[in-house]
Amino acid sequence: MFESLIARPTDAIIALMEMAKADTNPNKIDLGVGVYKTADGATPIMRAVKQAEGLYLTEEITKSYVSTIGNAEFRTSMLDLIFGTDYAPLTEGRIASAQATGGSGALRLGAELVMSSGKNPTVWVPTPTWANHTPLIGSVGLTIKQYPYYNSDTLGVDFDDMLACLKDEAKAGDVIVLHGCCHNPTGADLSKAQWDRLAPVLRDNELIPFVDLAYFGLGHGIEEDTYGLRLVGEICPEVLMAASCSKNFALYKERVGLVAAITTSPDQAKLVQSQFGALQRRLTSMPPDHGAALVARILGDAALRQVWTEELDEMRERMQTLRKSLSDALRVQGAEAMAAAILNQNGMFSTLPLSLEQTQALREKHSVYVMNSGRMNIAGANATNIPRLAEAILAVL
Ligand SMILES: Cc1ncc(COP(=O)(O)O)c(C=O)c1O
Repeated sequence: MFESLIARPTDAIIALMEMAKADTNPNKIDLGVGVYKTADGATPIMRAVKQAEGLYLTEEITKSYVSTIGNAEFRTSMLDLIFGTDYAPLTEGRIASAQATGGSGALRLGAELVMSSGKNPTVWVPTPTWANHTPLIGSVGLTIKQYPYYNSDTLGVDFDDMLACLKDEAKAGDVIVLHGCCHNPTGADLSKAQWDRLAPVLRDNELIPFVDLAYFGLGHGIEEDTYGLRLVGEICPEVLMAASCSKNFALYKERVGLVAAITTSPDQAKLVQSQFGALQRRLTSMPPDHGAALVARILGDAALRQVWTEELDEMRERMQTLRKSLSDALRVQGAEAMAAAILNQNGMFSTLPLSLEQTQALREKHSVYVMNSGRMNIAGANATNIPRLAEAILAVL
């Protein structure tokens, strides 16, 4: 049987990580992998997580199975965090949810739910989008199409083209994947005014938003980063959401995520909830509990929550400071647009307007590692190496 299989190429990001690791230049700058890093290049366990883990070690009394929809306290506290406790669909009992295996598992469960509806809608993703969206959602059997999103000339969102495509090409019942904040790979987000214009278009054309919330808290703050999701949830009858705790709780390997569906009634919510449970059961039976239990512990304890909030603020502010420094260092003739875009974009990523040859030259001549697409993770830089990074980018331009 196995002889009929073909070997798969190494994932581009893994290949880049390996190249950066093998580079012996002590001044190398690794802006590849999508994890948050401190100024000294580490991805530490958050203080709130460590403290919660200490408490949990003594409190945990069993490793017995939890549930196909996961940890109930986790789901409740995450829904409160994401939507706010007085959010109408939440207080009215119209939101179904399930803990998932990371944001990826949440996207997958959402896609499985769409497939189970039997309506076979097309799923639209932005151009470009996170590289795993199409494999994760498409392998369920759904057709994927792309809507215009990022304009590599203006280095901003192609909002008019995006709206035109959703109005004219998407069909009623189609599912529209939207990055809630900190768009991966470009960092270019919809402004509040753009969300305000987009939401009625989604409602009027009977499109179903599927908001990917992988970086909330890391753009401008929890409230600001969930603005678009909360808005579409108020005005569209049905909405899907996939949240991840990989980045904002730095729980990457613990695989913590939440899928949720805003529905039209508590009965619909119950029905969807039963689907989430059944879908998860047939995929992996249950999500892992450890990370979710820690998130529930942190969000449910005022002191721990305060520690976590402060750390999240520190992470976000560090990335904003790095963006400002890099933008200032790039503000020279010919690079002004790039400098302005880096400053305006949000979260960890920006896609530099570089060709394949230029990203190769960055690696080979300057030991600077960004993806071939030009995507860089700003958290991989620090105050000391920003001048060298800017010089290298300007040199290859
Ligand atoms: C846009 C986007 N969605 C979802 C995910 C999935 O995150 P997780 O690691 O929690 O599965 C990522 C991770 O990089 C992402 O960038």
